[in-house]
Amino acid sequence: MANNLLKGKKGIIFGALDENSIAWKTAEAVHAEGGQFVLTNAPIALRMGEINKLAEKCGSEVIAADATNVKDLEALFSQSMDVLGGKLDFVLHSIGMSPNVRKGRSYGDLNYEWMQKSMDISAISFHKVMQTAEKLDAMNEWGSIVALSYIAAQRTYPDYSDMAQAKAMLESIARSYGERFGQLKKVRVNTISQSPTMTRAGSGVGGFDAFLEFAEKMSPLGNASAEACANYIVVMFSDFTRMVTMQNLMHDGGFSTTGMTQKVIDQILSK
Ligand SMILES: NC(=O)c1ccc[n+]([C@@H]2O[C@H](COP(=O)([O-])OP(=O)(O)OC[C@H]3O[C@@H](n4cnc5c(N)ncnc54)[C@H](O)[C@@H]3O)[C@@H](O)[C@H]2O)c1
Repeated sequence: MANNLLKGKKGIIFGALDENSIAWKTAEAVHAEGGQFVLTNAPIALRMGEINKLAEKCGSEVIAADATNVKDLEALFSQSMDVLGGKLDFVLHSIGMSPNVRKGRSYGDLNYEWMQKSMDISAISFHKVMQTAEKLDAMNEWGSIVALSYIAAQRTYPDYSDMAQAKAMLESIARSYGERFGQLKKVRVNTISQSPTMTRAGSGVGGFDAFLEFAEKMSPLGNASAEACANYIVVMFSDFTRMVTMQNLMHDGGFSTTGMTQKVIDQILSK
């Protein structure tokens, strides 16, 4: 299905941990569309070694960076411009982690140091990425920056815990930085709110199988897959979406505007 939508475009993709990662599928899709990029992840994630397979397939360099560490980000952006031979056209922030969720702490018993870590890793890192890009003048005009969100920013879900606050902050940062980057460099900034997806981050949420099944039944089109999300991100990086900015874009098979479906009614009635 490749159409060279991203031919000549250069960027950075954060967050490909293993082949289930949304960032991994995105790297494959961007590569198929002719984009070139640097892959990055936290040093501890790179130690798994999986990312090297992806890098080989896509002809990409891998540069380690903890997205909460501004020095790491500065080095990442300058090295990426060297490796790619110029400024960047796209950045994908596909990063999320909550120690409270990981360790199953209840919402009434949060560890506040961990909560700050959740915010730093899952939301403030997005600001750090963009502030670094701005300070190093790393983005080309009409560039596109995307981060991944979840509908728990607007509605509550059991066990999503402090990640709900992190996603609300992430979406707010997209609006505030989108306003700034648009004025400065015509760079657009959006979040994509994705269906629940079976990945390392997703499966850390308690009762995740039930989340998946409920969302599947509540979405007229069914859950959006990681591959479908990757294709949407390609479109958001392409020149066909130049005037879309400061939006939280629902990529959820219709879940967010569905009140009830026959499938859910049938399931309840069958009990
Ligand atoms: N899986 C889902 O159900 C779902 C739904 C909606 C949104 N999302 C979001 O999609 C994004 C990608 O998650 P995924 O589902 O592909 O899972 P994933 O576990 O494959 O990806 C999460 C990534 O975050 C990286 N990361 C964690 N701490 C980091 C740090 N300090 N610096 C740099 N990278 C760090 C991890 O190494 C990993 O690569 C996340 O923002 C997640 O919240 C996921």
